[in-house]
Amino acid sequence: MAGQIWHSRPADLYGRRKHDRLFNALWAAITLFGGAATISRWKPSRIVPVSRTITAVVTKREMLTSDVVALTLADPDGGLLPYWTPGGHIDVQLPSGRRRQYSLCGVPGRRTEYRIAVRRLDDGGGGSVEMHESYAQGDTLLFEGPRNAFYLGTDESDVLFVIGGIGVTPMLPMLREAVARGIQWRAVYAGRSRADMPLLDEVLAVDPDRVTVWADDEHGRFAGTDELLAGAGPRTAVYVCGPSAMLEAVRVTRNQHADAPLHYERFSPPPVIDGVPFELELARSQRVLVIPADRSALDVMLDVDPTAAYSCRQGFCGTCKVKVVAGQVERRGRTAEADDEMLVCVSRASQGRIVIDA
Ligand code: FES
Repeated sequence: MAGQIWHSRPADLYGRRKHDRLFNALWAAITLFGGAATISRWKPSRIVPVSRTITAVVTKREMLTSDVVALTLADPDGGLLPYWTPGGHIDVQLPSGRRRQYSLCGVPGRRTEYRIAVRRLDDGGGGSVEMHESYAQGDTLLFEGPRNAFYLGTDESDVLFVIGGIGVTPMLPMLREAVARGIQWRAVYAGRSRADMPLLDEVLAVDPDRVTVWADDEHGRFAGTDELLAGAGPRTAVYVCGPSAMLEAVRVTRNQHADAPLHYERFSPPPVIDGVPFELELARSQRVLVIPADRSALDVMLDVDPTAAYSCRQGFCGTCKVKVVAGQVERRGRTAEADDEMLVCVSRASQGRIVIDA
């Protein structure tokens, strides 16, 4: 889970973020005498997610590749945005009501601005297209967070970063953090071609001697696990973010080192493992959906109602949570589900029918 958020200045005694003169003077004094620096270096082990909505302004919009847009965000009043850590993301509330998560890929610790990058998927769920088409410089963007479920562990000493395409977004700040912490690290960055690899120049700028670039068009094939995991010993911590196929290949190959740390972040839903078919009844419409063994309830719901709410599709954000009216739920989420709740992106039934209030 991502983090405890430190704001530019803490809320005042009454929880307000607009401060009176006395509070401002106190905060200035604390900053002057080093208190703020102490606070900003403090790294909580467990970060409480911020659920309030934050308004930002898009200060810059640039195309990183032909299909990846980067948006730079700032506080409309010139204040500082909440504290964040490498690997963290924000939940963007799109004008349509969709919510999507995007990793922060700017300079770690920088709070005067955030940067996110989005690859356009014309055959995706519509969120990336909306991100590309909805925001120009000067527009307002609403988000919640940041949160972080993809930390660079505090006791790492030997790390391999495996990066695939747009998976670079959480990884770039991690590389910079690894340098700052003096960690022994290497990175493999793979993509279709160098022109299709967003932020490649910034990745190489971190330390070109530690980064291996694999462009498929230069080799005539995808990188295999031999190339992706080259040099990773049994104790090397591997961090991977990229397409599902890459992630699964790395995960399966690293299974031979059962004790070695493997950390990954998905940008697409995980495959359904050990699922059985079941029925999902939508109580309000009295519609019954048949959920196959290899699909999630959310996927089938989206077939009949593309506006069904979701964000992470991995069972940790809670956006897809619904009330259960009847039936036995096999809970697979990483966030809490009460007895009468179900995360339809991952949870399912082991048999029979589940009735939900939808
Ligand atoms: S969409 Fe995030 S928990 Fe289901």
